[in-house]
Amino acid sequence: MGHLDGKVAIVTGAGGGLGRAHALLLAHEGAQVVVNDLGGDRDGTGGGTSMADGVVAEIIAAGGQAVAHYGSVSDNDAAAGMVAKAVDSFGRLDILINNAGILRDKSFKNMTDAEWDIVIDVHLRGTYLVTKHVWQHLLAQGQGGRIIMTSSTSGLIGNFGQTNYGAAKAGIAGFMRVLALEGMKNGITVNVLAPAALSRMTEDLMPESPEVAERLAPEKVSPAVVWLCTDSAAKVTGRQFCVSGNRVSLLSWQVNVIAEKNALEAPWGVSEIGDAISATIEQWPKLLKPMEV
Ligand code: NAI
Repeated sequence: MGHLDGKVAIVTGAGGGLGRAHALLLAHEGAQVVVNDLGGDRDGTGGGTSMADGVVAEIIAAGGQAVAHYGSVSDNDAAAGMVAKAVDSFGRLDILINNAGILRDKSFKNMTDAEWDIVIDVHLRGTYLVTKHVWQHLLAQGQGGRIIMTSSTSGLIGNFGQTNYGAAKAGIAGFMRVLALEGMKNGITVNVLAPAALSRMTEDLMPESPEVAERLAPEKVSPAVVWLCTDSAAKVTGRQFCVSGNRVSLLSWQVNVIAEKNALEAPWGVSEIGDAISATIEQWPKLLKPMEV
């Protein structure tokens, strides 16, 4: 018995890296999987069928069930086609893992409009489009569902040279926090994954060593993702999980009131509020670096 017997999942960008690892484990746990991948390069150029086909072949060789889908997440018709593929192939749909992504890193000073737009398009609009079609299907099906959105510490915390990517990934987290509230009455959970793993996307950003490859293998991230898709995780929604190696962290918020007076009084003077804020600065939590989570 698998944890996901009878469930059907879509994983976007599942032709390599984290998406491949998620798809293999979902299938191992009994889910039937639509393996989506555009099959292009790391920067989003090009396309092809071999990446998605390769992962489908791996799943079938291991005794699982999967079909390939080659469209782009940022194409509305392709996003609708992923849902149709799941329903036509397996008769239903329960799980969406939004994972597809690209990088166009530049310092903000040097970033072109095209580099900004394509990263927002693939990550934020791509996550929106696929989720939009899946959402309608889950509501009509009436049996709840599971949606994972892949963000990043670059968006939740910050990372040099990734304003486009950080904006998209923060947008995805904001999208999740609202959609999670809207999904509650329908039993649809929506959570964010901020992973760290050695993949095509990060191979030149991380030190090269067998120890790093082992510690940051994508397969170390997938178990938490797959558990969030099970019936046992029905109450877990609206959360942001940082997962790397075998560590799972919950990223939560703390609101610190740093200056307040009765709201019926006159507004603060600018110097007055400045003095009140400045007096607390030394006590503020330090700015995190992405790898500290
Ligand atoms: P990866 O480059 O190995 O995988 C991304 C996959 O998405 C590729 O197979 C690519 O062909 C596919 N893809 C790209 N554009 C697509 C599109 N328009 N439509 C469909 N498929 C498309 O990268 P990795 O590391 O596995 O990344 C997976 C996700 O995790 C991404 O969203 C990434 O931003 C996120 N992430 C990864 C981190 C890491 O440490 N590897 C850190 C933080 C976030």
